Amino acid sequence: MTLTQLQKLKEKGEKITCLTAYDASFAHILDEAGIEILLVGDSLGMVVQGHDSTLPVTIDDMIYHCKQVSRGNQQAFLIVDMPFMSYAIPEIALKNAARLMAEGEAQMVKLEGGAWLLETVQLLTERGIPVCAHLGLTPQSVHQLGGYRVQGRDEISAERLQNDAIALEAAGASILVLECVPSKLAAEITKSLNIPVIGIGAGVDCDGQVLVLYDLLGITDKPPSFSKNFLQETGSIKAAIEAFIMAVKNARFPGVEHSFE
Ligand code: KIV
Repeated sequence: MTLTQLQKLKEKGEKITCLTAYDASFAHILDEAGIEILLVGDSLGMVVQGHDSTLPVTIDDMIYHCKQVSRGNQQAFLIVDMPFMSYAIPEIALKNAARLMAEGEAQMVKLEGGAWLLETVQLLTERGIPVCAHLGLTPQSVHQLGGYRVQGRDEISAERLQNDAIALEAAGASILVLECVPSKLAAEITKSLNIPVIGIGAGVDCDGQVLVLYDLLGITDKPPSFSKNFLQETGSIKAAIEAFIMAVKNARFPGVEHSFE
């Protein structure tokens, strides 16, 4: 799977499937099932390492897990999160992103944030490092946001999200993740961009969907309301992942009960 192929899926209106992976065994299962994007999310800080936020995750942690996922993967496009503070300054971002690509064997890096990231996105993409932007609920800013809350509910913040999305695409971002935003706003942002928009808690009208694998498998203690335990209704890991793929491809997931107004 390449960026060009992902772009074609958006153009054809075919939904894109993405799940998080943190090790080679799960990466292999997800890849075999036909997931198009594997995301080595810094959510690993919570679901694998047991922290109560993603903030303690280091660049070495991300390289370690990304390498494992890369070994288990054959076809899927591989995105890795840049952890907290590893991209706070453009030059530091370039150095750390280069390590994630060269040592971690990622194909793209993901950064959380809006307008303040434009210079960094341009710097990375001009040097051959593809960038996935992440807007809405950005978990690395949980303390600034005052908790894990839906973003873009009022007119001013909705407009800021829309403008940030357009500016990030113009700066060179090739994919956008939108987390926890009202479905109507996510649909408008998705329509206004040429690049694929992957939603999580952002309604069914995004170009694709991502979930944290441990939420999908019912491992997470207190899963977020926008996630769904696909293992419960299928009985095997393989069947649960296939059910997720089918539900996303047929626009049956997320339902209104997994979305926000
Ligand atoms: O870290 C992560 O798993 C993520 C997804 C929730 C999008 O960023």
